[in-house]
Amino acid sequence: MPIDTSHYWMPFTANRQFKARPRLMKAAAGMYYTAEDGRQILDGTAGLWCVNAGHAHPKITEQIIAQVQTLDFAPPFQMGHAKAFEAATALAHMAPEGLNRVFFCNSGSEAVDTALKMALAYHRMRGDGLRTKLIGRERGYHGVGFGGIAVGGIAGNRKHFGPSISAVDHLRHPLDISRNAFSRGLPLHGAELADEFEQRLLALHDPTTVAALIVEPVQGSTGVIIPPKGYLEKLRTICDKYGILLIFDEVITGFGRLGSAFAADYFGVIPDLICCAKGLTNAAAPMGAVIAKQSIHDVFMQSAPENGIEFYHGYTYSGHPLACAAAIATMQVYHDEKLFERAASMSAAFEQAAHQLKGLPHVKDIRNLGLVCGIELEPLAGKPTARAYEVFERCFWEKNLLIRTTGDIIAISPPLIINHEQIGTLFSTLAEVIQSIK
Ligand SMILES: Cc1ncc(COP(=O)(O)O)c(C=O)c1O
Repeated sequence: MPIDTSHYWMPFTANRQFKARPRLMKAAAGMYYTAEDGRQILDGTAGLWCVNAGHAHPKITEQIIAQVQTLDFAPPFQMGHAKAFEAATALAHMAPEGLNRVFFCNSGSEAVDTALKMALAYHRMRGDGLRTKLIGRERGYHGVGFGGIAVGGIAGNRKHFGPSISAVDHLRHPLDISRNAFSRGLPLHGAELADEFEQRLLALHDPTTVAALIVEPVQGSTGVIIPPKGYLEKLRTICDKYGILLIFDEVITGFGRLGSAFAADYFGVIPDLICCAKGLTNAAAPMGAVIAKQSIHDVFMQSAPENGIEFYHGYTYSGHPLACAAAIATMQVYHDEKLFERAASMSAAFEQAAHQLKGLPHVKDIRNLGLVCGIELEPLAGKPTARAYEVFERCFWEKNLLIRTTGDIIAISPPLIINHEQIGTLFSTLAEVIQSIK
């Protein structure tokens, strides 16, 4: 019987187009999905940048099953359960030095809104309540909450939803194809773009009114924008100079994508707050988290009235037992299978294979870091997004490969378990498809 697709209003999907020819998955294991029609589909996107340890990892699924049979739920407000503390401890140990206080939520969007609220409340609790402004970046994606879309820099995600939060401003994004096209790893040009934070935005707003700057260390969703060498370091220095909190949104870069636990480790730039989600549970259960510097957490503990709630924020499913079981098992798998080291060791082969596509028709840039790469195509005249979408469809229907596109950019971010042969297949398939389109 054909599936009735009419009732499900799909997220970030062209519903009418999708429902005319649904792309459905019915199973997944390791590097592959099984499509509804039985085809094995190579996963070039780790689901949605999240299944870093590969699909249906038995050590993760068995812990989730055991957990639901033991404790399905415990209220997270004024009550607790051991797994939430255990998951927080494991995450604190994985996080950069000094970031060791963990607040759980259910998604990247919630992690971002939590971190923004934490930053605002932190300044207020320190008696610096004038710091109410938040700075984000053009082409930033910070999820879909009102906080996230305000600091985010994607017009399409904001324009239908009214004025949202007004005390925000945005830095320029650092993508500069004119100087950095076909960079391998960090682009060489553009660190000076960080100076705009101090020279334009802080000069305009008065630095004493700014609470936090939020950036993705590598911008993922808007097409893999890799920071120029020295750029993030400059942002850190400026934040320090003016007492502004630096938030890294590591929803994509966390858990091995760059070959280290967090991008903060990769760049050696340590933020005050890290937002994470996705790879935290290998996507086997929804979960997000904010990892805070202990000094931020301590301000809350020291400033709130005795026996009073310190942070008026939380979710029914904060630290959900199933998500905690998944997170503990996932972090153990990352450790035992040395998946972050593996990602680092595969990144040279991945880069080499990706850059083989240079010179193909329509390819105007290739950029990569760790196990993520963006391939930017020249848009079809008058039909932006159509060219990359055609590549996506052909890969799925004709070549059994799942890729992701945003605008005319193809984003590749496979599970960290990918092997050399699969890297070869992925990029040679992509090359074949790009060559075949108009
Ligand atoms: C950097 C970043 N932040 C936040 C989010 C939002 O996460 P979620 O979809 O889990 O709410 C995403 C999702 O892709 C993301 O890439």
